[in-house]
Amino acid sequence: MLEAPPLLLAAFSLGLVLLVLLLCHSYSGFLLICWNEFVLQPLYNLFMGDTKEQRILRHVLQHAVAGDPQSVLEAIDTYCLQKEWAMNVGDKKGQILDAVVREQRPSVLLELGAYCGYSAVRMARLLEPGARLLTIELNPDYAAITQQMLDFAGLQDRVTVVAGPSQDIIPQLKKKYDVDMLDMVFLDHWKDRYLPDTLLLEECGLLRKGTVLLADNVICPGTPEFLAYVRNSSRFECTHFTSYLEYSTAVDGLEKAVYMGQDGPAQP
Ligand SMILES: C[S@@+](CC[C@H](N)C(=O)[O-])C[C@H]1O[C@@H](n2cnc3c(N)ncnc32)[C@H](O)[C@@H]1O
Repeated sequence: MLEAPPLLLAAFSLGLVLLVLLLCHSYSGFLLICWNEFVLQPLYNLFMGDTKEQRILRHVLQHAVAGDPQSVLEAIDTYCLQKEWAMNVGDKKGQILDAVVREQRPSVLLELGAYCGYSAVRMARLLEPGARLLTIELNPDYAAITQQMLDFAGLQDRVTVVAGPSQDIIPQLKKKYDVDMLDMVFLDHWKDRYLPDTLLLEECGLLRKGTVLLADNVICPGTPEFLAYVRNSSRFECTHFTSYLEYSTAVDGLEKAVYMGQDGPAQP
């Protein structure tokens, strides 16, 4: 009887440790994002008197070659792997993004969420002559960094950076930005906007049969409502690409959802 309390205590402690380890493993990607964005980054910003996004741009200007998009991507990846984590699509998922752009060969490509311009550089470097990318970024400081990144990479003529919230800009695309239909959309903004903006794109008549939606971070941090919608709708045909959260080993993925038109795929 006297032995029981210490044994119970030991079992309880072990259980607690295992539970913490289990939670840490399951949420490792989410914890990594929170740790970097809400702890490390504010501390660095305070001590260095600038922002992470300015530091990323400065690293590119010092280490990449002007007019060479590949060197810009490599400089950003190196910085974010070795110095500070950042929410670019990154090198691993970037290769999936490259493959989809190469396959789709879009004439008009829309990006939701530019951040520092990493994925904009990635996609714009693969566009065929005459094709264009519009990238919408909510934060004006990030939009300015993206513009400088594209200017440095020599891709400014193919890309229009629009500062503002996607939900305000999407309805203006036809009239103000001379967009008829979109061939491809890369969704990489805040995750709770994926579904409403997909519905908005459809409502505004911007999707045609064959338009490809490619959505990042559908596993980590995750976009359950968007995934459930596109996977259960006859208007979309979906393919999942498993990968890793940028600059980490946490599992993430991209969802490719091909728009099949209002009536869905043709019935046999
Ligand atoms: C994950 S980052 C984008 C990363 C970028 N696509 C890349 O791979 O280099 C998400 C970005 O979306 C922007 N954002 C969030 N909500 C938005 C909205 N409603 N409209 C436009 N941009 C938004 C954020 O400010 C942030 O810069």
